[in-house]
Amino acid sequence: MPESPDSSSDIIAVTGASRGLGAAIALELAGRGLTVGCLSRQGIGPAETVAVPDELAARMVMAKCDIKDGDSIRASLAALSDQGYRLRHFIANAGTHIAGPSHKFADADIATLLDTNVAGTFSCLREAYQYLGEGSVIVTIGSFYDRIGAPQNAIYAASKAAIGAIARTLAVEWARDGIRVINIAPGYIETDLNKEFLESDRVREFFKRRVALQRWAQPDEIARLIAALLQDDHPLLSGETIYLDGGHAITHGRI
Ligand SMILES: NC(=O)c1ccc[n+]([C@@H]2O[C@H](COP(=O)([O-])OP(=O)(O)OC[C@H]3O[C@@H](n4cnc5c(N)ncnc54)[C@H](OP(=O)(O)O)[C@@H]3O)[C@@H](O)[C@H]2O)c1
Repeated sequence: MPESPDSSSDIIAVTGASRGLGAAIALELAGRGLTVGCLSRQGIGPAETVAVPDELAARMVMAKCDIKDGDSIRASLAALSDQGYRLRHFIANAGTHIAGPSHKFADADIATLLDTNVAGTFSCLREAYQYLGEGSVIVTIGSFYDRIGAPQNAIYAASKAAIGAIARTLAVEWARDGIRVINIAPGYIETDLNKEFLESDRVREFFKRRVALQRWAQPDEIARLIAALLQDDHPLLSGETIYLDGGHAITHGRI
C-alpha cells in the first residue's frame, strides 16, 4: 500500500521550508493535497518568499524552529501535535553552506557547519522519532559533495557525508519501528545558497564541458522525487543515498 498520509490530520514536517529547496518541497507536497508543517527559524513558509496559490497555502502550517536548538525543535513538534496533527513523515532539509580556503578556515565556520548540518539534523530526527511510526519515512538532504573533492568545501562535504552516515544508521536502528530513512544527495540546485556562484559565465561553461546533463537543477526537480518517495510504495528502500546530480559526480568530462 502507498505510504502517503491517509488522514486529514496527518502532517509532513519540512525543516528550512522558508525558501530554496525546503520551500519547493513544501509546495510540491501541498500541491499533491498533503498537509505540510513548515519549520523555519522565523516561522515562515514559502508564501512569504514566493507566490503561493491560496489553496496550497491553506495546507501549510507554520512553526518556529531553529535546528541548532533542541528546545526549539521540541517546541515546534509539540506545537504541531497540540494543533491535532499527527506527524507522518519528516524531511530534514535545513542546512547551511560556508566555503573557503581550508588552510585558514575559521573555527566559528567549522562550528556553524557542524552544529547546523550534522548536530542540527540529528537532533531533529531524534526529536521527531517519538511522533513517527509504522510507515513513516524520514528524508535527509545530503549532497553529492560527499563523494567528490570540491576545493574549499572540506567541512561542508564532511557534514554532508555525516548526514549519509546518520541516515544509514537510523535506517537500521529504527527499522523495527517501521520507519525508513532515505538520504537525497543533490548536485547543484539554483537557490539563494549558490545563486551568485551559478550566475557566472565560467560556471555555465564548466557545466557544458563537465556535467553529463550540462545543467544544474531547479528546486522543484528535487522536490518531485522526494514527494514521489513518500507517496509511492518502496518498502525495501531504506538507508540509501540517492544522488540526484544529472550525472555530475560521475562525468569524466566531454572531450
Ligand atoms: N543549493 C544547492 O546547490 C544544494 C546542493 C546540495 C544540497 N543542498 C542542501 O539542500 C538544503 C537546502 O538548501 P538551499 O539551497 O535551499 O539553501 P537556502 O536557500 O540557503 O535555504 C536554507 C534553508 O535552511 C534554513 N536554515 C538554515 N539554518 C537553519 C537553522 N539553524 N534552523 C532552521 N532552519 C535553518 C533556512 O531558513 P531561515 O529562513 O531560517 O534562514 C532556509 O530555509 C541544505 O541542506 C543544503 O545543504 C543544497
